[in-house]
Amino acid sequence: MVGRIAVNAEYLKETEKARRNLRKLICRKNCAPILLRLAWHDAGTYDAKTKTGGPDGSIRLEKEYTHSANNGLKIAIDLCETVKAKCPKITYADLYQLAGVVAVEQSGGPTIDFVPGRADSTESPEEGRLPDAKQGVTHLKEVFYRMGLSDKDIVALSGGHTLGRAHQERSGFEGSWTQEPQFFDNSYFVELLNGESAGLLKLPTDKALLEDPEFRRYVELLNGESAGLLKLPTDKALLEDPEFRRYVELLNGESAGLLKLPTDKALLEDPEFRRYVELYAKDEDAFLTDYALSHKKLSELGFSPP
Ligand code: HEM
Repeated sequence: MVGRIAVNAEYLKETEKARRNLRKLICRKNCAPILLRLAWHDAGTYDAKTKTGGPDGSIRLEKEYTHSANNGLKIAIDLCETVKAKCPKITYADLYQLAGVVAVEQSGGPTIDFVPGRADSTESPEEGRLPDAKQGVTHLKEVFYRMGLSDKDIVALSGGHTLGRAHQERSGFEGSWTQEPQFFDNSYFVELLNGESAGLLKLPTDKALLEDPEFRRYVELLNGESAGLLKLPTDKALLEDPEFRRYVELLNGESAGLLKLPTDKALLEDPEFRRYVELYAKDEDAFLTDYALSHKKLSELGFSPP
Protein backbone atom coordinates (compact mmCIF):
# COMPACT_ATOMS: atom_id res chain seq x y z
CA MET A 1 0.00 0.00 0.00
CA VAL A 2 1.07 3.57 -0.60
CA GLY A 3 1.01 5.24 2.81
CA ARG A 4 -1.08 8.31 3.38
CA ILE A 5 -0.42 11.58 5.10
CA ALA A 6 -2.92 13.98 6.65
CA VAL A 7 -4.07 16.52 4.07
CA ASN A 8 -5.02 19.77 5.77
CA ALA A 9 -5.61 23.26 4.37
CA GLU A 10 -1.92 24.08 4.64
CA TYR A 11 -0.94 20.99 2.63
CA LEU A 12 -3.50 21.82 -0.05
CA LYS A 13 -2.02 25.31 -0.31
CA GLU A 14 1.45 23.82 -0.72
CA THR A 15 0.11 21.48 -3.44
CA GLU A 16 -1.27 24.46 -5.38
CA LYS A 17 2.04 26.28 -5.02
CA ALA A 18 3.85 23.20 -6.34
CA ARG A 19 1.43 23.08 -9.27
CA ARG A 20 2.25 26.68 -10.19
CA ASN A 21 5.97 26.02 -9.88
CA LEU A 22 5.72 22.90 -12.04
CA ARG A 23 3.97 24.96 -14.74
CA LYS A 24 6.83 27.44 -14.72
CA LEU A 25 9.42 24.67 -14.74
CA ILE A 26 7.80 23.08 -17.80
CA CYS A 27 7.66 26.45 -19.61
CA ARG A 28 11.28 27.14 -18.81
CA LYS A 29 12.73 23.70 -19.57
CA ASN A 30 10.29 22.09 -22.04
CA CYS A 31 10.45 19.07 -19.80
CA ALA A 32 6.82 17.83 -19.92
CA PRO A 33 7.74 14.47 -21.55
CA ILE A 34 10.39 13.43 -19.06
CA LEU A 35 8.21 14.50 -16.11
CA LEU A 36 5.38 12.31 -17.43
CA ARG A 37 7.81 9.40 -17.80
CA LEU A 38 9.01 9.97 -14.20
CA ALA A 39 5.45 9.87 -12.82
CA TRP A 40 4.68 6.69 -14.78
CA HIS A 41 7.88 4.92 -13.69
CA ASP A 42 7.29 5.73 -10.00
CA ALA A 43 3.70 4.42 -10.18
CA GLY A 44 4.13 1.55 -12.66
CA THR A 45 6.03 -0.70 -10.26
CA TYR A 46 2.81 -1.46 -8.36
CA ASP A 47 1.98 -5.09 -7.62
CA ALA A 48 -1.67 -5.47 -6.65
CA LYS A 49 -1.11 -8.91 -5.04
CA THR A 50 1.65 -7.94 -2.62
CA LYS A 51 0.51 -4.30 -2.50
CA THR A 52 4.13 -3.16 -2.99
CA GLY A 53 5.60 -0.50 -5.27
CA GLY A 54 3.41 2.24 -6.73
CA PRO A 55 3.42 6.05 -6.62
CA ASP A 56 5.32 6.39 -3.35
CA GLY A 57 8.23 8.59 -4.42
CA SER A 58 10.69 5.69 -4.10
CA ILE A 59 12.13 6.41 -7.55
CA ARG A 60 14.02 9.32 -5.91
CA LEU A 61 16.27 6.72 -4.22
CA GLU A 62 19.52 5.84 -5.98
CA LYS A 63 18.83 2.10 -5.65
CA GLU A 64 15.74 2.60 -7.84
CA TYR A 65 16.60 5.33 -10.34
CA THR A 66 19.67 3.28 -11.32
CA HIS A 67 17.41 0.42 -12.55
CA SER A 68 18.06 0.23 -16.29
CA ALA A 69 14.39 1.00 -17.16
CA ASN A 70 14.90 4.36 -15.42
CA ASN A 71 17.91 5.50 -17.47
CA GLY A 72 17.78 9.27 -17.90
CA LEU A 73 15.18 9.86 -15.18
CA LYS A 74 17.69 11.38 -12.76
CA ILE A 75 17.28 14.50 -14.93
CA ALA A 76 13.57 14.62 -14.06
CA ILE A 77 14.26 13.90 -10.37
CA ASP A 78 16.68 16.85 -10.26
CA LEU A 79 14.18 19.12 -12.04
CA CYS A 80 11.53 18.22 -9.45
CA GLU A 81 14.03 18.93 -6.68
CA THR A 82 13.96 22.63 -7.68
CA VAL A 83 10.21 22.63 -6.97
CA LYS A 84 10.63 20.63 -3.75
CA ALA A 85 13.10 23.30 -2.56
CA LYS A 86 10.36 25.94 -2.91
CA CYS A 87 7.56 23.70 -1.60
CA PRO A 88 9.24 21.48 1.01
CA LYS A 89 5.98 20.30 2.59
CA ILE A 90 4.76 18.35 -0.45
CA THR A 91 5.89 14.71 -0.48
CA TYR A 92 7.99 13.42 -3.37
CA ALA A 93 5.24 10.90 -4.05
CA ASP A 94 2.66 13.67 -4.58
CA LEU A 95 5.14 15.95 -6.35
CA TYR A 96 6.01 13.36 -9.02
CA GLN A 97 2.36 12.48 -9.67
CA LEU A 98 1.42 16.16 -9.78
CA ALA A 99 4.28 16.71 -12.26
CA GLY A 100 2.80 14.00 -14.52
CA VAL A 101 -0.64 15.59 -14.36
CA VAL A 102 0.65 19.11 -15.08
CA ALA A 103 2.86 17.79 -17.92
CA VAL A 104 -0.17 16.31 -19.70
CA GLU A 105 -2.40 19.32 -19.08
CA GLN A 106 0.18 21.87 -20.14
CA SER A 107 0.90 20.05 -23.42
CA GLY A 108 -2.72 20.34 -24.53
CA GLY A 109 -3.97 17.14 -22.91
CA PRO A 110 -7.03 16.61 -20.73
CA THR A 111 -7.51 17.88 -17.18
CA ILE A 112 -6.67 15.05 -14.77
CA ASP A 113 -8.18 14.87 -11.30
CA PHE A 114 -5.38 15.00 -8.72
CA VAL A 115 -5.91 13.85 -5.13
CA PRO A 116 -2.97 14.58 -2.78
CA GLY A 117 -1.92 12.62 0.31
CA ARG A 118 0.66 10.01 -0.80
CA ALA A 119 3.38 9.31 1.75
CA ASP A 120 7.02 8.81 0.75
CA SER A 121 8.50 5.34 1.03
CA THR A 122 12.11 4.36 1.64
CA GLU A 123 11.53 0.88 0.18
CA SER A 124 12.17 0.26 -3.49
CA PRO A 125 10.66 -2.63 -5.44
CA GLU A 126 13.02 -5.12 -7.04
CA GLU A 127 14.26 -4.34 -10.56
CA GLY A 128 12.23 -5.65 -13.50
CA ARG A 129 8.66 -4.55 -12.75
CA LEU A 130 8.36 -2.01 -15.58
CA PRO A 131 7.56 -3.20 -19.12
CA ASP A 132 10.34 -4.25 -21.49
CA ALA A 133 9.96 -2.40 -24.81
CA LYS A 134 11.38 -5.37 -26.74
CA GLN A 135 8.51 -7.69 -25.80
CA GLY A 136 4.95 -8.16 -27.04
CA VAL A 137 1.28 -8.66 -26.14
CA THR A 138 1.65 -11.33 -23.42
CA HIS A 139 4.30 -9.38 -21.54
CA LEU A 140 2.36 -6.10 -21.74
CA LYS A 141 -0.76 -7.76 -20.33
CA GLU A 142 1.22 -9.52 -17.58
CA VAL A 143 2.83 -6.30 -16.40
CA PHE A 144 -0.26 -4.10 -16.50
CA TYR A 145 -2.62 -6.76 -15.07
CA ARG A 146 -0.15 -7.12 -12.19
CA MET A 147 -0.75 -3.43 -11.47
CA GLY A 148 -4.51 -4.06 -11.57
CA LEU A 149 -5.02 -2.23 -14.89
CA SER A 150 -7.11 -3.31 -17.91
CA ASP A 151 -6.60 -3.69 -21.67
CA LYS A 152 -8.29 -0.34 -22.16
CA ASP A 153 -5.89 1.27 -19.64
CA ILE A 154 -2.91 -0.27 -21.49
CA VAL A 155 -3.94 1.27 -24.80
CA ALA A 156 -5.01 4.64 -23.37
CA LEU A 157 -1.83 4.99 -21.30
CA SER A 158 0.36 3.95 -24.22
CA GLY A 159 -0.96 7.15 -25.80
CA GLY A 160 1.45 8.88 -23.40
CA HIS A 161 3.96 8.33 -26.20
CA THR A 162 2.31 11.23 -28.00
CA LEU A 163 4.84 13.20 -25.91
CA GLY A 164 8.61 13.13 -26.10
CA ARG A 165 11.05 10.74 -27.66
CA ALA A 166 13.47 7.90 -27.11
CA HIS A 167 17.19 8.57 -26.70
CA GLN A 168 19.73 6.02 -27.94
CA GLU A 169 21.94 6.51 -24.89
CA ARG A 170 19.05 5.97 -22.45
CA SER A 171 17.02 3.10 -23.87
CA GLY A 172 18.78 2.01 -27.05
CA PHE A 173 15.86 3.39 -29.11
CA GLU A 174 15.88 6.68 -30.98
CA GLY A 175 13.23 9.08 -32.25
CA SER A 176 9.75 10.39 -31.52
CA TRP A 177 6.40 8.67 -32.03
CA THR A 178 4.69 11.69 -33.57
CA GLN A 179 5.47 14.69 -35.78
CA GLU A 180 4.81 17.17 -32.95
CA PRO A 181 6.03 15.44 -29.77
CA GLN A 182 5.49 18.57 -27.66
CA PHE A 183 1.70 18.20 -27.94
CA PHE A 184 -0.59 15.77 -26.15
CA ASP A 185 -3.16 14.55 -28.67
CA ASN A 186 -4.25 11.34 -30.42
CA SER A 187 -1.49 11.45 -33.04
CA TYR A 188 0.28 8.44 -31.48
CA PHE A 189 -2.65 6.24 -32.57
CA VAL A 190 -2.98 7.88 -35.98
CA GLU A 191 0.71 7.25 -36.66
CA LEU A 192 0.53 3.71 -35.31
CA LEU A 193 -2.12 2.85 -37.90
CA ASN A 194 -0.40 4.86 -40.65
CA GLY A 195 2.80 3.00 -39.94
CA GLU A 196 1.24 -0.25 -41.06
CA SER A 197 1.45 0.91 -44.66
CA ALA A 198 4.77 2.65 -44.23
CA GLY A 199 6.67 -0.22 -45.80
CA LEU A 200 4.97 0.20 -49.19
CA LEU A 201 6.81 1.60 -52.20
CA LYS A 202 6.93 5.37 -52.61
CA LEU A 203 8.78 6.76 -55.64
CA PRO A 204 10.21 10.31 -55.42
CA THR A 205 7.64 11.34 -58.03
CA ASP A 206 4.90 9.92 -55.82
CA LYS A 207 6.13 11.89 -52.84
CA ALA A 208 6.33 15.10 -54.91
CA LEU A 209 2.56 14.94 -55.27
CA LEU A 210 2.20 15.56 -51.55
CA GLU A 211 3.74 18.99 -51.99
CA ASP A 212 0.86 20.27 -54.08
CA PRO A 213 -1.63 21.78 -51.59
CA GLU A 214 -4.68 21.12 -53.75
CA PHE A 215 -3.79 17.49 -54.22
CA ARG A 216 -2.90 17.11 -50.56
CA ARG A 217 -6.30 18.37 -49.54
CA TYR A 218 -7.97 15.40 -51.20
CA VAL A 219 -5.50 12.88 -49.87
CA GLU A 220 -5.90 14.17 -46.34
CA LEU A 221 -9.65 13.94 -46.62
CA LEU A 222 -9.36 10.21 -46.14
CA ASN A 223 -6.34 10.08 -43.93
CA GLY A 224 -6.65 9.24 -40.24
CA GLU A 225 -5.33 12.69 -39.40
CA SER A 226 -8.60 14.22 -40.51
CA ALA A 227 -10.74 11.65 -38.70
CA GLY A 228 -13.83 13.35 -37.40
CA LEU A 229 -14.07 15.71 -40.37
CA LEU A 230 -16.99 15.56 -42.76
CA LYS A 231 -17.03 12.63 -45.16
CA LEU A 232 -19.93 12.50 -47.61
CA PRO A 233 -20.93 9.09 -48.99
CA THR A 234 -19.44 10.29 -52.30
CA ASP A 235 -16.16 11.02 -50.53
CA LYS A 236 -16.10 7.59 -48.98
CA ALA A 237 -16.83 6.00 -52.36
CA LEU A 238 -13.44 7.26 -53.48
CA LEU A 239 -11.82 4.86 -51.03
CA GLU A 240 -13.13 2.00 -53.09
CA ASP A 241 -11.21 3.18 -56.13
CA PRO A 242 -7.83 1.38 -56.17
CA GLU A 243 -6.03 4.28 -57.85
CA PHE A 244 -7.22 6.71 -55.17
CA ARG A 245 -6.30 4.26 -52.42
CA ARG A 246 -2.75 4.26 -53.70
CA TYR A 247 -2.51 7.98 -52.87
CA VAL A 248 -3.91 7.48 -49.40
CA GLU A 249 -1.12 4.99 -48.76
CA LEU A 250 1.30 7.59 -50.13
CA LEU A 251 0.42 10.06 -47.37
CA ASN A 252 0.65 7.37 -44.74
CA GLY A 253 4.25 6.83 -45.80
CA GLU A 254 5.09 10.23 -44.34
CA SER A 255 5.10 8.64 -40.90
CA ALA A 256 7.81 6.18 -41.91
CA GLY A 257 10.54 7.97 -39.94
CA LEU A 258 8.68 7.78 -36.62
CA LEU A 259 9.47 5.39 -33.77
CA LYS A 260 7.47 2.22 -33.13
CA LEU A 261 8.62 0.05 -30.22
CA PRO A 262 7.74 -3.66 -30.31
CA THR A 263 5.31 -2.92 -27.44
CA ASP A 264 3.70 -0.15 -29.54
CA LYS A 265 3.22 -2.55 -32.46
CA ALA A 266 1.76 -5.14 -30.07
CA LEU A 267 -1.25 -2.81 -29.69
CA LEU A 268 -2.14 -3.57 -33.32
CA GLU A 269 -1.90 -7.36 -32.92
CA ASP A 270 -4.27 -8.10 -30.05
CA PRO A 271 -7.90 -7.63 -31.19
CA GLU A 272 -8.97 -6.16 -27.84
CA PHE A 273 -6.08 -3.63 -27.95
CA ARG A 274 -6.69 -2.85 -31.60
CA ARG A 275 -10.32 -1.96 -31.00
CA TYR A 276 -9.14 0.93 -28.78
CA VAL A 277 -6.31 1.96 -31.13
CA GLU A 278 -8.84 2.36 -33.95
CA LEU A 279 -11.30 4.20 -31.71
CA TYR A 280 -8.66 6.61 -30.39
CA ALA A 281 -7.22 7.27 -33.87
CA LYS A 282 -10.59 8.41 -35.16
CA ASP A 283 -12.08 9.93 -32.01
CA GLU A 284 -9.68 12.23 -30.17
CA ASP A 285 -12.27 13.15 -27.52
CA ALA A 286 -12.74 9.47 -26.64
CA PHE A 287 -8.97 9.14 -26.21
CA LEU A 288 -8.59 12.25 -24.05
CA THR A 289 -11.53 11.24 -21.82
CA ASP A 290 -10.28 7.66 -21.36
CA TYR A 291 -6.67 8.78 -20.94
CA ALA A 292 -7.60 11.11 -18.06
CA LEU A 293 -9.37 8.24 -16.25
CA SER A 294 -6.57 5.72 -16.82
CA HIS A 295 -3.92 8.25 -15.81
CA LYS A 296 -5.78 8.93 -12.56
CA LYS A 297 -5.91 5.17 -11.89
CA LEU A 298 -2.17 4.87 -12.55
CA SER A 299 -1.42 7.79 -10.25
CA GLU A 300 -3.47 6.21 -7.44
CA LEU A 301 -2.31 2.56 -7.61
CA GLY A 302 -2.21 1.25 -4.05
CA PHE A 303 -3.37 4.64 -2.79
CA SER A 304 -7.00 4.92 -1.86
CA PRO A 305 -7.99 8.50 -1.20
CA PRO A 306 -10.52 8.80 1.66
C1 HEM B 1 9.71 7.11 -23.34
C2 HEM B 1 8.96 2.34 -23.18
C3 HEM B 1 4.51 3.09 -21.47
C4 HEM B 1 5.41 7.83 -21.28
C5 HEM B 1 9.89 5.76 -23.43
C6 HEM B 1 11.09 5.12 -23.91
C7 HEM B 1 10.88 3.79 -23.88
C8 HEM B 1 9.55 3.57 -23.37
C9 HEM B 1 11.85 2.69 -24.31
C10 HEM B 1 12.34 5.85 -24.37
C11 HEM B 1 13.16 6.35 -23.18
C12 HEM B 1 14.36 7.16 -23.65
O1 HEM B 1 15.16 6.61 -24.41
O2 HEM B 1 14.48 8.34 -23.27
C13 HEM B 1 7.67 2.14 -22.76
C14 HEM B 1 7.02 0.85 -22.69
C15 HEM B 1 5.77 1.06 -22.24
C16 HEM B 1 5.63 2.48 -21.98
C17 HEM B 1 7.64 -0.49 -23.08
C18 HEM B 1 4.70 0.01 -22.07
C19 HEM B 1 3.48 0.20 -22.51
C20 HEM B 1 4.41 4.43 -21.16
C21 HEM B 1 3.31 5.05 -20.44
C22 HEM B 1 3.57 6.38 -20.39
C23 HEM B 1 4.82 6.61 -21.09
C24 HEM B 1 2.15 4.28 -19.82
C25 HEM B 1 2.77 7.49 -19.76
C26 HEM B 1 1.49 7.45 -19.52
C27 HEM B 1 6.62 8.04 -21.91
C28 HEM B 1 7.13 9.36 -22.26
C29 HEM B 1 8.38 9.15 -22.87
C30 HEM B 1 8.59 7.72 -22.87
C31 HEM B 1 6.41 10.69 -22.05
C32 HEM B 1 9.30 10.22 -23.45
C33 HEM B 1 10.33 10.67 -22.44
C34 HEM B 1 11.26 11.74 -22.96
O3 HEM B 1 10.97 12.38 -23.98
O4 HEM B 1 12.29 11.95 -22.33
N1 HEM B 1 8.97 4.79 -23.09
N2 HEM B 1 6.81 3.09 -22.32
N3 HEM B 1 5.31 5.41 -21.53
N4 HEM B 1 7.51 7.08 -22.30
FE1 HEM B 1 7.14 5.09 -22.35
